[in-house]
Amino acid sequence: MSSIKEVMNHSIMTPSSIIRVDVVPLVGSDAVVYIKREDLIHPHLSGNKWRKLKYNIDHILDNKLEGMVSFGGAFSNHIYAAVAAGAIFDFKVVLFIRGEISDVDNPTLAFCKRMGAILIPVTREEYRLRNDLDWLENIQSKYPEYHIVPEGGSNDLALEGVAEIMKEIEESDQVYDTISVSAGTGGTAAGMIAYDSDTIIHVYASLKGNFIEDDIRKFLKSDFQNYKVFNNYHQGGYARVNKEYISFLNQWYEATQVPLDPIYTGKMMYGIIDQLKNGELDSAKKHLVIHTGGLQGITACNYLNGKKFGMINYGNIQA
Ligand SMILES: Cc1ncc(COP(=O)(O)O)c(C=O)c1O
Repeated sequence: MSSIKEVMNHSIMTPSSIIRVDVVPLVGSDAVVYIKREDLIHPHLSGNKWRKLKYNIDHILDNKLEGMVSFGGAFSNHIYAAVAAGAIFDFKVVLFIRGEISDVDNPTLAFCKRMGAILIPVTREEYRLRNDLDWLENIQSKYPEYHIVPEGGSNDLALEGVAEIMKEIEESDQVYDTISVSAGTGGTAAGMIAYDSDTIIHVYASLKGNFIEDDIRKFLKSDFQNYKVFNNYHQGGYARVNKEYISFLNQWYEATQVPLDPIYTGKMMYGIIDQLKNGELDSAKKHLVIHTGGLQGITACNYLNGKKFGMINYGNIQA
């Protein structure tokens, strides 16, 4: 159980480290991947959530605003991180939650409540208006001293924060052949692509459908050719899991001791291991993977799916 004091007691640790991980037991032949451990930036405000919120937080503090308004599903990593940001940097957080808020045992919402966030349930129909300008204007008029951050935290300020991942890689003086990242809204991938490094960015969609590429393009101000999207590793759709996938996560952890979240980084890594096995990725090349955090999703996934598909079990790692 995290108290506000515990959340605030940790500092933000950047630059995040890059580790070399032997994946021979998973691939079945000689192979390593390099992982940028963005998940270790902070126990509650880590990964791409820190990167995306960093300059949004700055905006709130610089303009002496009262807080942040944002949006998300009831298990979302973004709402969890927004609330942690409010506790750490001392501002209020108002969250419009899609649908199922009545489940008081939901670990993500329990954290948000414990940290004092104001949670406002909206129907799925109303939630579809989350990017509608009139709807947002109405919310802004109700919360005039609040900074509105879109779902998933993806806005222009977020892209600036994400670019710092690429800057840190550049400053590490190591050269990689590919850099992989998972995608939901595509904002993180867009921020990395827009940095326009020579390294190709591999993007693994965690949602079903072929729309991520278009979404990424909308964030980018010009045309980039330095990326490739893989749409076939979503495991059935957003937040969907199955027995074989949960078993992969546990095997991965046993082999590497690196915890992956089930919604984003796990699906990406499943894809990378599959591509190393089938030769789509050349194991002689140097592959860097961005661990975008999201480990709070482990508790949520076990809560929702543990009985049906098995528990993600990383020993005493607590998200
Ligand atoms: C842990 C994690 N990784 C990756 C992503 C994908 O980020 P984006 O929405 O910017 O594509 C998300 C978020 O939404 C996330 O929570």
